[in-house]
Amino acid sequence: MFKDKIGKASEKNRSRIVLALDLVEASREKLLRKSFSLLENLSNLICAVKINRHLVLPLGLFDGVKKIVGFIHRFGLPAIMDCKINDIGSTNLIIAKNYFRAGFDALTVNPIIGFEDGLKPVLSLAHKNGKGVITVVYMSHKGAKEFYERKVLDGGKPKPQYILFAEKSLRWKVDGVVVGATKPRKIGEIKKVLGEKIPIYSPGIGVQGGKAEKALKMGSSFLIVGRKIINAKNPIKEAERIRMLYG
Ligand code: XMP
Repeated sequence: MFKDKIGKASEKNRSRIVLALDLVEASREKLLRKSFSLLENLSNLICAVKINRHLVLPLGLFDGVKKIVGFIHRFGLPAIMDCKINDIGSTNLIIAKNYFRAGFDALTVNPIIGFEDGLKPVLSLAHKNGKGVITVVYMSHKGAKEFYERKVLDGGKPKPQYILFAEKSLRWKVDGVVVGATKPRKIGEIKKVLGEKIPIYSPGIGVQGGKAEKALKMGSSFLIVGRKIINAKNPIKEAERIRMLYG
């Protein structure tokens, strides 16, 4: 199962860092070369790699990204596709099938689409194949508050949208939730809903202003870090510094 895979890698490397491999290069060759060299240098300092459209669009899923996913697996690390699935069930299923066929171990989804004919087929497919599904519960960017903080009615008293997303994630038995590190208090509130049942993944460290220490203290299990590491003068040193927070 995905949760076991990331747990094992995290323990082995004593790291909670999910590396966001968001490279921007002028050519496909450079993108591939830089991806392989960063992975080689950082593989023992991280617990997973997250890929986004930065690589999928220029390289293609089966032409280029599949090779990178294979390389990630050679180090015993899981690969997460940050595709934020957001469509009707039949389309979601095609998206998920293709990413899983390319070797991904988990993918991100938007909980706003709901369960029946939305996320249900994705969760069934994932869990049948030992793969993971991670819901985006509260995003890290500034505009997130416009909708994630809206009060909604769900039978009882009004509650913020992100709390309902967390409650639903628990009910749907997802494998992780994303909560931005830029909102440490929200991490604490969501941790209260999830307890130890579902781990929190926090992006937004460094460039977006989130603090790794604070996120972990409030209840995040994993830190998603991209530019702070990959654009650092010395990515190894930067990853080592963040890894020290493993506890
Ligand atoms: P940086 O460079 O800011 O990259 O460390 C973060 C990576 O994570 C993605 N990201 C998010 N993904 N919910 C998500 O599911 C979020 O709130 C969120 N914030 C950032 C971002 O696209 C990049 O790949």
